[in-house]
Amino acid sequence: MNHIACDQTPVWAALQNAFNTSGQSFDLRTAFATEADRFQAFSQDAPHVFADLSKNLIDRATQLLLLQLAQQTGVQAHRDAMFAGAAINGTEGRAVMHWLLRQPPARAGAVARDSLGPLAAELAQVHLTLDAMLAFAQSVRADRAITDVVNIGIGGSDLGPQMALLALDEFVLPAKRFHFVSNVDGHELASVLKRLRPESTLFLLASKTFTTIETMTNARSAKAWFEAQGGTDVALHFAALTTNVAAAREFGISTTFGFWDWVGGRYSVWSAIGLPLAIAIGEAGFREFLSGAHDMDEHFRTAPLARNLPVRLALLDVWYRNFHGFSSRSIAPYHSALRRLPAYLQQLEMESNGKRVNTLGAALGYATAPVLWGEPGTNGQHAYFQMLHQGTDVVPVEFVAVKRPKHDLPGHHELLLANVLAQAQALMQGKADAGGHRHFPGNRPSTFLLLDELTPASLGALIALQEHRVFVSGSLWGINSFDQWGVELGKVLAKDLEQRLASGDPAGLDGSTAGLLSRLRK
Ligand code: F6P
Repeated sequence: MNHIACDQTPVWAALQNAFNTSGQSFDLRTAFATEADRFQAFSQDAPHVFADLSKNLIDRATQLLLLQLAQQTGVQAHRDAMFAGAAINGTEGRAVMHWLLRQPPARAGAVARDSLGPLAAELAQVHLTLDAMLAFAQSVRADRAITDVVNIGIGGSDLGPQMALLALDEFVLPAKRFHFVSNVDGHELASVLKRLRPESTLFLLASKTFTTIETMTNARSAKAWFEAQGGTDVALHFAALTTNVAAAREFGISTTFGFWDWVGGRYSVWSAIGLPLAIAIGEAGFREFLSGAHDMDEHFRTAPLARNLPVRLALLDVWYRNFHGFSSRSIAPYHSALRRLPAYLQQLEMESNGKRVNTLGAALGYATAPVLWGEPGTNGQHAYFQMLHQGTDVVPVEFVAVKRPKHDLPGHHELLLANVLAQAQALMQGKADAGGHRHFPGNRPSTFLLLDELTPASLGALIALQEHRVFVSGSLWGINSFDQWGVELGKVLAKDLEQRLASGDPAGLDGSTAGLLSRLRK
């Protein structure tokens, strides 16, 4: 498709000019003092999520220019192409349709959007697989003989279900234990295995490709352990979640749940990769998770750009990255159950948009994905928030807070909410009446995302919001957010080095690698 590079649009120079004249000296405190309706103008509701963007370094004129940037780079057409099932992942020749996984089934006799036209066949397959996977999840939930579920997978085949299962702890079936093994480091699998008995364990082998070395190594070791411990019925105790059903069968797994090459690994929690989550929260919970995400899809697909939350977040990302030059963003979920959200978002943002070439492979003249990092609050406050308040770099912070808790311990939640409000306030206000070590410069930007409650639906919406935001920033930067060639080189070199560790052959290696190899073999 015809994409205009962001720095080639007419509005790019206007944005640079706006940054030079007022953007870089913009002061949040002055803005709030002079704009009575700043909170209303820069906040909005989206499905299941309220967003306050008003503590960001942006004025109305800049917001309008950024919206023009979205128009001039063709974000809407790109979005529509994704929702039409076009092969927008050009380097792999694939469509990008994780959103279809949360599309409700077509209603009988439905027309137009409801029937999804040419995608109707895919949607029918999605629901056939979903129904089968949820029926399996229900049967595992009811099976009292199974006490432990072990997910073996890495990257998108680990982070999504793990993050969501922790986040939805309040909805998780207490009668079962869930384990996630991702690292090829045998310590991880060994420490899980020693707590298990084969007859009460279900292993889920989660791998889109069913070739990932870490997962296949762990899967082989798990199967060997199962057999060595006297486990018999592999069909009953192993299931595979993969697009490569044939490879899973060859591995000896007969219970398989498939998905499709148009689901990227980091976008796959909605597919069969979500099975551990479905077992944990049940069919109804998983369907709510999908439906919350679908609500956000519809928002992204239909809301005007100026009130489209993923679009507004992505425009801010570009403003910060390309004009202010901020190179990272910190995510601070004020909910301990969201403790794996930063890791999950790290893959989503950095594997999607950590690219230095455009969709045609030509080097870009501007920066792309920021480093994404963070920890839950209030823990982060006692670790790295010092740097956020008084360090030399400005790091935009994205707070996520939940209005209503699921516990009834008195005082805790009020204190938690007071802290998240205080941090956002302190970053912005600073403290000018003190000098030296006690001085806080303030004017440090933050976004505040608020959920009423942390439920399967609101979590689904929050994740879909982030997916679409990454889509839009990738689109503005003119990159392919759906491939990940950058992970290949290390995989190839690791294969070679695995052999050299056995043989000791240093021929052709650089001095450092050769030196380390020899030390490792001594
Ligand atoms: O190495 C990167 C990656 O390809 C991720 O994109 C993916 O989520 C992960 O590996 C796991 O891949 P698979 O699900 O095919 O095992």
